[in-house]
Amino acid sequence: MTMLTGKRAIVTGAASGIGRATAALFVELGASVVLADLDETRGREAAEEIGGVFVPCDVAKARDCERVVATAVDRFGGLDVLFNNAGIIRRSTVTEITEDDWDLVMAVNVKSIMLMSRYAVPRMGRGGSIVNTGSGWGIKGGGRAVAYCASKGAVVNLTRAMAIDHGPAGIRVNCICPGDTDTGMLAEEARQLGEPVESFYTAAADRPLGRIGRPRDIAQAVAFLAGDSAAFVSGAVLAVDGAGTA
Ligand SMILES: NC(=O)c1ccc[n+]([C@@H]2O[C@H](COP(=O)([O-])OP(=O)(O)OC[C@H]3O[C@@H](n4cnc5c(N)ncnc54)[C@H](O)[C@@H]3O)[C@@H](O)[C@H]2O)c1
Repeated sequence: MTMLTGKRAIVTGAASGIGRATAALFVELGASVVLADLDETRGREAAEEIGGVFVPCDVAKARDCERVVATAVDRFGGLDVLFNNAGIIRRSTVTEITEDDWDLVMAVNVKSIMLMSRYAVPRMGRGGSIVNTGSGWGIKGGGRAVAYCASKGAVVNLTRAMAIDHGPAGIRVNCICPGDTDTGMLAEEARQLGEPVESFYTAAADRPLGRIGRPRDIAQAVAFLAGDSAAFVSGAVLAVDGAGTA
């Protein structure tokens, strides 16, 4: 059984969706949690409801990432778990996407993992665990999402490279690849593509388990990877997608 008693954790993108559900589950399982997010209003509200500490943060900015890690270490006396989860999507082809949007997606989805981890790793001891959020579209391609697919493919292999580098220090690094999950991002995709949310959700449920994911489905898998039950799991890429990529 996964327990996170006494673990000190950071969750990025914790104001909504998968990050929020994971922060809530971490607290339920006994962890102390810093919730980091760009959205101050929803971030503070989430932290209050869950019982964590909110730190406003743009994960694409080094100074913000440094402050998030420093806050966790100051408040909790150390750091055991980092969930690099903040992410954004732009539904465009290479001929449609602007250079600014390309750079933003790569910065928020990929560079952020390097930034957060470079401050977090030196504060973690043996037994430390980093979980990065990839996507089904980090394993296979998808239409009109070039920057997102490129970024999530990068997250998958960045995870493996980090697992090799930090394994000797006893730090595990894994990646979860959610399938379509009922969060603000999925509704935002429908909006960007100009499709009605309802039919977009129905199409997204077309997978062997016959439904889209709930944020809690993903959170359960993250909690497993974060905790000591996964003590020998590192460099793994775990699809949590109702067999969508199978
Ligand atoms: N929802 C899905 O279907 C799905 C599928 C596969 C992967 N994912 C991934 O899951 C992760 C979480 O997404 P979600 O679905 O919960 O979406 P969401 O939009 O509900 O949550 C994303 C959170 O990240 C925050 N954020 C965005 N930019 C940020 C920045 N620069 N700095 C700090 N925080 C920032 C947002 O404010 C938001 O609270 C993302 O990495 C996403 O790519 C989602």
